[in-house]
This record gives sequence, C-alpha cells and structure tokens, in this order.
Amino acid sequence: MATPHFFSTFIKSSSLFLLLVSCFLDQTHASEPKNTKIQDSFHTIQISSLFPASVCSPSKDSIKKRPSTLEVFHRHGPCSKLSQDEAAAEPSLKEILSHDQSRVESIHARINPAPTTDKVNDKKVDLPVQSGSSLGSGNYLVSVGLGVPKKTLSLIFDTGSDLTWTQCQPCARSCYKQQDPIFDPKTSASYSNISCTSTTCSQLSSATGNTPSCSAGTCSYGIQYGDQSFSVGLFSKDTLTIANDVFPNFQFGCGQNNQGLFGRTAGLMGLGRDPLSIISQTAARYKKYFSYCLPSKSSSTGHLTLGKPRKRGKGVRFTPFDSSQGSSFYFITVASIYVSGQPLPIGQAVFKTAGTIIDSGTVITRLPPPAYSALSAAFKQGMKNYPAAPAYSILDTCFDFSNYTAITIPTVSFAFGGGVKVNLIPSGILIPVSSTVACLAFAANGDAADTGIFGNMQQLTYEVVYDVTGGKLGFGAAGC
Ligand SMILES: *[C@@H]1O[C@H](CO)[C@@H](O)[C@H](O)[C@H]1NC(C)=O
Ligand SMILES: *[C@@H]1O[C@H](CO)[C@@H](O)[C@H](O)[C@H]1NC(C)=O
Repeated sequence: MATPHFFSTFIKSSSLFLLLVSCFLDQTHASEPKNTKIQDSFHTIQISSLFPASVCSPSKDSIKKRPSTLEVFHRHGPCSKLSQDEAAAEPSLKEILSHDQSRVESIHARINPAPTTDKVNDKKVDLPVQSGSSLGSGNYLVSVGLGVPKKTLSLIFDTGSDLTWTQCQPCARSCYKQQDPIFDPKTSASYSNISCTSTTCSQLSSATGNTPSCSAGTCSYGIQYGDQSFSVGLFSKDTLTIANDVFPNFQFGCGQNNQGLFGRTAGLMGLGRDPLSIISQTAARYKKYFSYCLPSKSSSTGHLTLGKPRKRGKGVRFTPFDSSQGSSFYFITVASIYVSGQPLPIGQAVFKTAGTIIDSGTVITRLPPPAYSALSAAFKQGMKNYPAAPAYSILDTCFDFSNYTAITIPTVSFAFGGGVKVNLIPSGILIPVSSTVACLAFAANGDAADTGIFGNMQQLTYEVVYDVTGGKLGFGAAGC
C-alpha cells in the first residue's frame, strides 16, 4: 500500500506538513546506481516526505501511450477513483496492520496446510474450511471492463490469489457498498453460466481452496480470505476488456453474497499462477508476462502492464522464481540483506528453511525471526542518535523524531538469487505511525518455518516484472 495514506486525515488537518512536503524521495531513488554495489550508506530525508500529499499528482509517464496498460491507484488517498466521502471510514493504521497480519497467517496456512504453531490453528478454527487466499490489505486498484456492452469495474489486484470475482445482481444474500454500479448479468449479451459438469468448474478447488457446489446445474464458487472476508456466487463467463484488449469467455466469480474488507471496490483480480488466474486465462495473448509499479505515495499513480512491453525499461534485473514450490504463489530466493551497505550476519539456512514469496497485497515484509532480529539490530545501531519509541502493533523498531524535521537513516537493500540487488526507497524502510514517530517497516514471522513475504511497501516505485513462463522476476528502479 502506499502506506503513508493513513495519515491523509492527519495531513489534511496540518497545513504545516503540507508546506513541508518535498520531492526529496524521488530524487533519491531516481539516481539509483545501475551496478549492484551500494554506494550510499545513508539517506537524508525530510520527515514530511514520508507522508502523502493531499492532491493527486499522477505519474508523469503517460500510460495512454502504452498498450495493455492500466493505471494503478491506491484505494485510499487523493488519486483513488472511489468516492472520497468515505474518508472517515478509512481504516486506521492499527487496523491495516491487523488485517495485514491476518492475511499473512492465511498465506502461511495455504502454503503449509499443517501449521506448526497453535496461533494459526486457533485462527483456522473460525474458518469453515481451509482458509482460501487472503486479501486484507490488498490496496492497489485497476479498472477493467466486463460484459457487452462493457461496464467499468474497479478491482483490487492481488498476486496472492487466483480467482477474479465481482459483486453481481441480484445480490441474493448480501453485497457491500461499491462505487461502480453492481454488475448485472442480465444486461450483458455475452454472459453465460458455467455448468457443474464442465472441467473448469472442478478447477475451482485449487483456485479457491474450496470444493465448488452445484445449484440447478450451475457451478458455484466460494472463496474466503484470511480476515474472514468472503465472496460466494455463480461461476460465470463473460467478455473481459483490459485497456483495448478484449477476452471473450473470461471465467470469473459472479458474487451473490459478498462481505468484508473490500472497501468500495467491485471485487478482486487474481494474478496468481493457478490455471484460473487472469494471468493463465490471458496466456495466449500476454504469454504470462506482466509488470507493475506501485506508486510511492497514495497521492501518486502507477501502472499494471499485461504482456511484454515493446520497450522494456533498461536496468531491469532478473532473479529466478523458485520453481521447487508448487503452489500458486510467486516464490523467490533471498540471498542476503544489507544495512548501510554491510551484509547482515544471517546464516544461509535461515532463508532456505522458510522460503520467500513476493506479494502485491501484503503491506509489511515478513522475515524469518533470526533475519528480522539481525535487521532490527543493525538498523537501531545506525539510528542510535535518535530516541527510541515504543512498539506499535506488529512494528517493534520505532523512533521518536519529535525534535527533527530532517533525518538520516541507514540504507537497506535486499540481494536476491542471481545477484539482483534492490535498494529500498526511504518510504520502504520507515513507516510513520504518528506525526512524530516512525518504525522500521518490517516484521518477524512467528515461526522459523513460516514463509517470508516481500511486501508491497518494499516494492514501491520499482518496476516489478513477472515473467512467469520464463521463470523469473525482474526489478527495475524508478518504474513510476
Ligand atoms: C445462471 O444461473 C442462475 C442460477 O441457476 C439463473 O438464475 C440464471 O438465470 C442463469 N443465467 C443464465 C444467463 O443462464
Ligand atoms: C526534544 O527536545 C527537548 C528540548 O531539548 C527535550 O526536552 C525533549 O526530551 C526532546 N524530545 C525527545 C523525544 O528527544
């Protein structure tokens, strides 16, 4: 998430911070070194630069000129196409971090269905069946068209799940409030139900984690997320339009009973690896190749591009996907973490034991406990001039900047398999939790065997390229 959006309310009430908003961050990452050597050990930033502006400044590179590209915007904040009158309903940072934790526990339960910790077991008791994918804080949205004539729908895009669904009329049980009119299959000439006997119906089991059911010969899906949000309805086909590309017979969930933390979005777009994901269904055209850039702030925009762009940004470097993992998640290999250009003392076995996925919907990167301890200790050492602040929710490495307007923080970089190094921007290192306190934007997993997750705060402003067929993931600095 462009994270600092939780402060938009605060910002609105503080003209002082508005005056201080600077573009320092952008300068910092735009000059990212091309080689893999860390040249700088510290970033000096204005504290105000960690907060979003109150007006939207869309990304300068025009997405209109690029084929098969959608604008990405944060669900909250000034660039959101969803109604702004819901400012009061915006979740607090504490709520966002709590949903983020639910999402992470759900991902862990999917990857390792026999959880080793009691904590996860307790959670699972509340869920009717194996927890499905998770949503929680998937905060980035795109707009697509569905049906003939096409209706525009704003969907959360999520690399951590597979089924694409939208709320549908008639909302037989329940629909939450959404911004776009709710999709009505009756108004689409190209809509059809999928029958229970079709093979694609049986594929729902792996895409949703739930066995499909059958009502009057029509295949029905159900998917629930780690935070107890869910969507249940008819499994359907209709024409999907992505930018100017048209896909007849796209298979999606037409949700008649939907509840949860989807904000005012129309539903979800699943970008996982499963055969039912949008990536697999559009493979003939896009060759399972996509890329996105998440904007550094909720007051800016990014993009999601399906297919291989004619001209790829130079400086994109690739790390292999870890194909030993069969699940629908995107596994990558973390080799090491650097603070101020120095590698942390973390044994190779630490990352190997846990494995790591990249996820567009998890906010805060999760690390195996020994890796997190090493990171926190080295970061604190580099921050020893600043007074410590109490822990905040899942964040325990916090600092009080009451007496500062500018601060100097250690650089943090990730080295991935294949020698790819990613230097995090300051907004991917520190998350402000109040006007004066900010915390290291990382958390430890509960168990050394739990999978690490490279979250969306740490991906900000990078062009993140998924070459699924080619088996590799790319990072390019200054993507938006
Ligand atoms: C799809 O199935 C539902 C439920 O069985 C039914 O009410 C609806 O009319 C069907 N729609 C079409 C286009 O066949
Ligand atoms: C800020 O400075 C004042 C005055 O020097 C001092 O009393 C206060 O303890 C400082 N606050 C923090 C959090 O360091």
